[in-house]
Amino acid sequence: MANLNLPPRRLSLLLSMLLAGSALVAGDPAKDLPKFDGDIQKYWANACARCHGVNGNGRDNNGTPLPDAGFDFTDSRKANRKKDADWVKVTLQGKDKMPAFKDKMSEADAQRFVTEILRKFAARH
Ligand code: HEC
Repeated sequence: MANLNLPPRRLSLLLSMLLAGSALVAGDPAKDLPKFDGDIQKYWANACARCHGVNGNGRDNNGTPLPDAGFDFTDSRKANRKKDADWVKVTLQGKDKMPAFKDKMSEADAQRFVTEILRKFAARH
């Protein structure tokens, strides 16, 4: 960078604006999340509930719909039409705004989220 004709402070300002902009557009929401450590309730609350809601219904604690929920896991009619294997796949590989968690957990872990968390949301209703 030393030999460019732009004043270095200008250049770094420009670069940081570009970087911030692209992070907003193409940012990976799962990037800053920790790896799954086996504490499934805690991981749901910390990593998944921000989009899906603590109760899986895509709403925050005030009942306001969350913008990036995508699916209401408490809707048992819809949930019952979904296969475990598809939910495992979406959890690992992501889909649209749903981030991929394949770097955070194994396939067996993802299956645990389906069985121990997601299926129970529908069963409660
Ligand atoms: C940044 C927001 C976000 C986070 C964090 C997130 N999800 Fe999602 N998830 C979504 C969105 C949006 C969809 C809908 C994707 C679509 O169908 O277009 C979705 C869909 C899903 C689906 C598929 C539902 C269906 O359509 O049948 C599963 C399963 C799922 N998420 C599980 C999880 C799990 C488990 C976690 C945490 C480990 C998690 N999600 C974290 C946003 C998120």
